[in-house]
Amino acid sequence: MKKTDFLWGGSIAAHQCEGAWDQDGKGIAIMDLVTQGTYEQPREICTKIEAGKKYPSHEGIDFYHHYKEDIALFAEMGFKALRISIDWSRIYPLGDEQTPNLLGVQFYQNVVDELLKYGIEPIVTLYHFEMPVHLVNNYGSWTNRKVIEFYLNYCETMFKALKGKVRYWATFNEMNHIDPQTEASDIFTYIISGLKYSDLKNKKQTLATISYHMTLASVKAVKLAHDIDSNFEIGCVFGLTPAYPLNCDPENVLNSFKETDREFYQIDAMCSGKFPAYKLKEYAKAGIDLTISQEDEIAFAQGKIDFIGLNYYSSSVAHYEGDHENEETLFGGVQNPYLQQSKWGWAIDPTGLRYLLNYLYRRYSLPIIITENGLGAIDHLETDGTIQDDYRIEYIEQHIEQVKKAIVEDYVECFGYLTWGPIDLVSATTGEMKKRYGFIYVDKNDDGTGTFTRIKKKSFNWYQNVIRTTTFD
Ligand code: BG6
Repeated sequence: MKKTDFLWGGSIAAHQCEGAWDQDGKGIAIMDLVTQGTYEQPREICTKIEAGKKYPSHEGIDFYHHYKEDIALFAEMGFKALRISIDWSRIYPLGDEQTPNLLGVQFYQNVVDELLKYGIEPIVTLYHFEMPVHLVNNYGSWTNRKVIEFYLNYCETMFKALKGKVRYWATFNEMNHIDPQTEASDIFTYIISGLKYSDLKNKKQTLATISYHMTLASVKAVKLAHDIDSNFEIGCVFGLTPAYPLNCDPENVLNSFKETDREFYQIDAMCSGKFPAYKLKEYAKAGIDLTISQEDEIAFAQGKIDFIGLNYYSSSVAHYEGDHENEETLFGGVQNPYLQQSKWGWAIDPTGLRYLLNYLYRRYSLPIIITENGLGAIDHLETDGTIQDDYRIEYIEQHIEQVKKAIVEDYVECFGYLTWGPIDLVSATTGEMKKRYGFIYVDKNDDGTGTFTRIKKKSFNWYQNVIRTTTFD
């Protein structure tokens, strides 16, 4: 792969950066109802906007009004690609309308045009935790098949609106965190579906249905995209965390395989052309009933993805007998004593990225793009106006080293590396601003203060140099 072909860049999501939550006809999306939390204090999920509570998506980093300035900074760093997401509730404020909100469509056309002005390839995610709340309240979210139709209608609007400008699309971000067989946290099921785990009546059945409908929506969107433009490359993004075995006790090795693998069944469905039989048997045993029509089977066969998007941050150790003393990680499994953790308890494991790239490539033989990777950290704005984020440079440098090895030594077909939040934005899990990922600092604080001024961190020039000089020979 030639250096110029590799998509260096970053990745952002609408609800974490845009702000302008009620402007230009936007409807209320699920994350507009989630308050700011902390590492210790979970975000509160409200049913309506309550006075006196802070909802970070309402302002974000005001990308809605700063996108030109921000894209100019990404261009200065030499970005070859930027992954954005479209907020469904800007396009269809309620989700079930017949005609789109043209001001919402126009906004994304403007953003894409701005990217193209600098030769930056837009990569567009259609669903990154941004569902119109009306679809949750009136249809029961993804439990209802009708929502697939609404989603496809929205996808069609955007495919047509950005045809000829956007080549790479992702149908969903991280639907894999919906797993009917394990206990889930409220925030994880909510950000994906708008439904709280603790509220679900028949938990396993409901989660399996949600997951199945989302997977089906994805394969149908792939076919729709290819029908609209055969040049579209359409994939799906998964957030994966390897769960290593504690040791070579075969039981632990098997547990490790199972814990890592349980988030792969949707990828299997999207790559193999059918919903996996092993999952259906597992469901049947657990008393979960899924109706798979002949039409669904055709949709799976016709909707294979073109590439896999990988979000990678961390790894864990698979559960083992007697592990209850060990701290549980956010993504399942327990902490690995060999690894250091971020301030938010995310283990730092560059090798895990190479491991996953190999795992995915050997299993699916599809091109992979790293759609998210990065370190959430507390940055200090020095009195001289600089931010010395050497820890971030170290984290990203070590991960890129592993990407290189995967490409050069293991022959993995990886066509891009996008850091998460190249500009500081709101944390998805905690809603904080102080958990910063960016090369660009945003003067916005959790107490609501700040001017939204953008400041280059030390890592800005460093990443610029990486993009300019890195080759995969
Ligand atoms: C990914 C999500 O899983 O993790 C992003 O796709 C999210 O939306 C990122 O921001 C990092 O998580 P957090 O909680 O640190 O923002």
